[in-house]
Amino acid sequence: MATVMIMDHPLIKHKISLLRDERTGTRDFRILVEEIAMLMGYEALRDLPTEPVTVKSPITVSQQPMLTGKKLAVVPILRAGLGMVNGILSLVPSAKVGHIGLARDEVTHEPHAYYCKLPENIDERLVVLPDPMLATGGSAIQAVDFIKAKGCQNIKFMCVIAAPEGLKALQTAHPDIDIYVGCLDDHLNEDAYIVPGLGDAGDRIFGTK
Ligand code: PRP
Ligand code: URA
Repeated sequence: MATVMIMDHPLIKHKISLLRDERTGTRDFRILVEEIAMLMGYEALRDLPTEPVTVKSPITVSQQPMLTGKKLAVVPILRAGLGMVNGILSLVPSAKVGHIGLARDEVTHEPHAYYCKLPENIDERLVVLPDPMLATGGSAIQAVDFIKAKGCQNIKFMCVIAAPEGLKALQTAHPDIDIYVGCLDDHLNEDAYIVPGLGDAGDRIFGTK
């Protein structure tokens, strides 16, 4: 059964509150997104398989657990998902990185795809798909569609803030993927922005408008 986990760690809650603050500037915003991604990644990767290997310590030889099984790929949804990549890579430095470029149309709120480059043998990998915002869910659903079309079956979507509408849409479209949410917010406004949210994540990470 797929996992849906809303984070309840006080460190994650505190950092998301700082992220929301309109006075948080680009530099601190980037640092916070990376830290939150690392803390969330720690939770999301707690089911990685290990196998016993022989380790010789200065005292004796013993069997100890080491990571095994499928390799990882981190595939951020551009642009804002890029801000979460280094936080996840700090946990799994040898993961491959792909990119899916999606931009939401300001009027229809539908995602428009402009780029997709994925690592080789992605179908054999666990794919971690980060994007700070899950609003209508359109972007996440399309990104998972792309990855599944390449044969991937093991997908973990991670977002910092979700709207209930987007979480429901993603679960309905892709009930088999694991979903990790930093904070579940209240609703979407008439422009399909998350309330209370944090504004436009891409603009705040990159200092654009
Ligand atoms: C934002 C965000 C998600 C998407 C969420 O990206 O990073 O990808 O909107 O909205 P949805 O759930 O309604 O699809 P945006 O399209 O603004 O692009 P950007 O990251 O380049 O700013
Ligand atoms: N994209 C964002 O960056 N923020 C929102 O609130 C909704 C979509």
